[in-house]
Amino acid sequence: MVLGLATGRTMIPLYQRLIGIIRDQKLSLKRCRTFNLDEYVGLNPTDPSSYHYYMQEHFFRHVDLAPENSHFLDGCALDLDAEAKRYEELITSVGGIDLQLLGIGHSGHIGFNEPLSSLGSRTRPKFLSPQTRHQNRVDFGETTDDVPEQSLTMGVATILDAQEIILLATGSAKAEILAKAMEGPITSMITASALQTHANCKVIIDEDCAHSLTMRNYIEFVLERDPNWASYFLK
Ligand code: F6R
Repeated sequence: MVLGLATGRTMIPLYQRLIGIIRDQKLSLKRCRTFNLDEYVGLNPTDPSSYHYYMQEHFFRHVDLAPENSHFLDGCALDLDAEAKRYEELITSVGGIDLQLLGIGHSGHIGFNEPLSSLGSRTRPKFLSPQTRHQNRVDFGETTDDVPEQSLTMGVATILDAQEIILLATGSAKAEILAKAMEGPITSMITASALQTHANCKVIIDEDCAHSLTMRNYIEFVLERDPNWASYFLK
């Protein structure tokens, strides 16, 4: 399986859970490949604020994934466009991503596809929005200025090429943007809204994150009647 992976605070409990399941059920990731969504420009893998480091810390060092099968964008590449092209070609060469995990940022981004990103974008360098730098400042120090200005990120169209997508969002701070992404118009101002066009995308949220959904009653009605979801649907 080829997995597309996300980082961020939302994903930490998911990786913890996954590590537990892999251990308990004696599963192996030896035949898995992974591609991370994004990386900060200028950070190398040993930098504790890099996404490479995050993945080692929160997931990879706990499982048997072969190091040569986990792929990252190189934030220290001298030619960022060439690095983005290499990544796109590598994803294509392994047959594309089977399952892509996503979080959603306060700016409505998926990956680092900030507002005004083309919904047809491919992997490329992308400057971070002030909102995202503010959101992620805790990973760098005190102020927004400590956060790198630029990232390398899979594009919206790269993400939409995945066979299956799961977006995870938790907490009331994400409720409003999540509702806009799910129920609002498809717009480059909220790149997560492009997921509405994907044929196999599931959105998993907790109670606090559900507050702003206007279609909540209907969603609950449907999920309770869906045998694939009923057992996971916690009241
Ligand atoms: C991280 C990523 C971002 C995060 C999003 C949510 O690899 O691509 O889109 O998923 O910013 O971050 P948290 O979970 O920290 O709120």
